[in-house]
Amino acid sequence: MTGHAGGSAEPPDTGGVGGATRQAARWATVGDARAHVTGRLAAAGVEPCEVDADLLIASVCGWTRPRVALERDTPLKAGTAAAIGALADRRAAREPLQRLLGEIGFRRLRLRVCDDVLVPRPETEVLAGLAIEATPPEGTVVDVGTGTGAVALAVADEASPGLVVATDVSEAAVACAADNAQRRGLAVNVRLGDLLEAVPEQLRGEVDVLVSNPPYLTPEEVAAAAPEVAEHESREALVGGAGGQDVIWRLLAAAGQWLAPGGTVLVEGATTRLAAAAERAKQLGLRGVGVQRDLAGRERVLVARR
Ligand SMILES: C[S@@+](CC[C@H](N)C(=O)[O-])C[C@H]1O[C@@H](n2cnc3c(N)ncnc32)[C@H](O)[C@@H]1O
Repeated sequence: MTGHAGGSAEPPDTGGVGGATRQAARWATVGDARAHVTGRLAAAGVEPCEVDADLLIASVCGWTRPRVALERDTPLKAGTAAAIGALADRRAAREPLQRLLGEIGFRRLRLRVCDDVLVPRPETEVLAGLAIEATPPEGTVVDVGTGTGAVALAVADEASPGLVVATDVSEAAVACAADNAQRRGLAVNVRLGDLLEAVPEQLRGEVDVLVSNPPYLTPEEVAAAAPEVAEHESREALVGGAGGQDVIWRLLAAAGQWLAPGGTVLVEGATTRLAAAAERAKQLGLRGVGVQRDLAGRERVLVARR
């Protein structure tokens, strides 16, 4: 097999279901695969296509991303090429990159991404940071709607809590969060149930930080989102009833019962509806109500205290 630098003589395959899988048999080198996968992803509207192509190849080959460029003349075995082609076709169908790679970085952690469980978003790192700052030493933290466990695990990793409880209504999420906790060796007590119903009763009035990234979008907002979200994420994880507000409002009502005096509630929400949620928090008698912005400068997290 002859390696040739920087790609193939053939034009990249730019479309069609299974296009990359069909082409893969003709890729002689890593460089061929890079050129074809990049072209396939670009045609499907994936950005940045070069980065995604390199990450998919790296994950199949068990390499770091920079190594892919250095190995461009390396011959590809048929099985490896086929595996890369199959992943490229799934990415071209706009499956989230992290779901294909199987894991995601969240603050200091690498977390497993699971089927039917939301891939954590970068803006949620801000929510986790606020929860970490608000957690007193040996404090009790409850993360409602934990998904992969990202927020609860970040608190267990970066703060010094006495107890972290994480809840979710989704069995897939509970299994995923428990698995991530075990893999990372972090103590998070994961429970299945609606809001705080699965939290031990003796913690009522004792919680120092109640944190949540609940479903807060409307069906219309999900439909208008990128295909990675609109077509490949669980609607239960994304859509809140009553115009996106119902889970947030129920959570704020529960905060008064579960927080210790002076305890903090932190809830991620839609920028356009945070003012209404803040008003609701005040009506419910919560104090110090404010809104924090995400890394893009958008209002993103409601903060209040009991
Ligand atoms: C937007 S996702 C957030 C997941 C995770 N916290 C994160 O930030 O990546 C919302 C999560 O809340 C869960 N959920 C939805 N309704 C819930 C409820 N009533 N009680 C507990 N969890 C709920 C969903 O299953 C989903 O895992």
